Amino acid sequence: MRYKHLMAGGIAIAASLVIGLGARGAAAQDSNNNTVKIGVVVPMTGTSGAVGREISDAMHLYIAQHGDTVAGKKVELIIKDDQSVPDNAKRLAQELIVNDHVNFLGAGLTPSAMAMAPIATQAKVPTVVVVSGTSIVTEKSPYYVRTSFTLGQQSGIIADWAIENGSKRAVSILSDWAPGAEAGKVFADHFTKGGGQILDTLKVPLANPDFSPFLQRAHDLQPDTLFVFVPAGQAGPFAKQFAERGLEKSGIKLIGPGDIVDDDDLPTTGDTLVGVVTAGLYSAAHPSQLNKDYVAAYKKATGHRANFISVGGYDGMHLIYAALKATNGKTDADAIIGAMKGMKWESPRGPMSIDPQTRDVVQNIYIRKVQMVNGEPWAIEFKTFPAVKDPLKEVAAK
Ligand code: PHB
Repeated sequence: MRYKHLMAGGIAIAASLVIGLGARGAAAQDSNNNTVKIGVVVPMTGTSGAVGREISDAMHLYIAQHGDTVAGKKVELIIKDDQSVPDNAKRLAQELIVNDHVNFLGAGLTPSAMAMAPIATQAKVPTVVVVSGTSIVTEKSPYYVRTSFTLGQQSGIIADWAIENGSKRAVSILSDWAPGAEAGKVFADHFTKGGGQILDTLKVPLANPDFSPFLQRAHDLQPDTLFVFVPAGQAGPFAKQFAERGLEKSGIKLIGPGDIVDDDDLPTTGDTLVGVVTAGLYSAAHPSQLNKDYVAAYKKATGHRANFISVGGYDGMHLIYAALKATNGKTDADAIIGAMKGMKWESPRGPMSIDPQTRDVVQNIYIRKVQMVNGEPWAIEFKTFPAVKDPLKEVAAK
């Protein structure tokens, strides 16, 4: 009896939350007729604090460059710190909808984006995924659209490149969470299909990682190639321990998705990563005029080198502006998502679009080699794979 009573109470609370979110969502459209509010949930503190800074800086830069009015509406950006805790992200998304009446959400790290998805769906709030690199995230809500990347987009391409360039025996070192698992899986699939062998897959804790024991184990296995995924914010500490363990001079080829040569960290790594080859979506050295202007403006505004996380935020803001122009300022979720599907534009990273079927990002992936230019390391692009889709969704669709 008592159990039943509790169950009924729980269902009632859940139902009122749904009604509350739904009603508030609708109210948002009436009450802020002349304002468009965008609430972005990212880590601003802790191990991944750099990610939130980069997203916030890039979104503010976009507004500063393009004006804070679009389709007759004033744009208001609200940034919330979830400290990389999914429960915080969920609560903050609820508060942004119910208290701040936001018209758009921005979702950050994979675990937080997963936790926010039911909230965005219930309240019908269009949400731009500006950081997460895990394939499944966009399938968690029909109101999710991604401007970041997937690890699969990069990891298969670098595996094929390694095979073509003589790699036969690889060890993987992966940050132990969803994007790491995905990078490792797509890499291993391509590498073994190409005739290579994976000697071991080593998983490093996400928070406060110590790479040394894993680097030692990898060294002992004597692979010809080391495939590494560490998330944004960890490339600097990784490079330092890589050099300390003597791997820099071991003859083992270091490769990975673009995260291991993150432009936010590269300037601090001296020549440690020179020669490292990665497949990535963005390099601050991308030679277009649009990118040169972006890198200069970002540096002037923040003091930092623009990186692959920042373009997720910058393009996320572009997508919101472009969708609002297309709907003449209407913020109705179905109209906005309809406008975003199939949208194409030129980004600092190169041409990109939103897949109309999957709402996922389609973009060029570049193979790049770290080289010293004017005394600083840069990831210099030398081969382009145009309009790459998320390979895991491609496989599922077949
Ligand atoms: C993610 O949240 O999926 C993520 C974050 C940072 C990265 C890669 C993936 O560098």
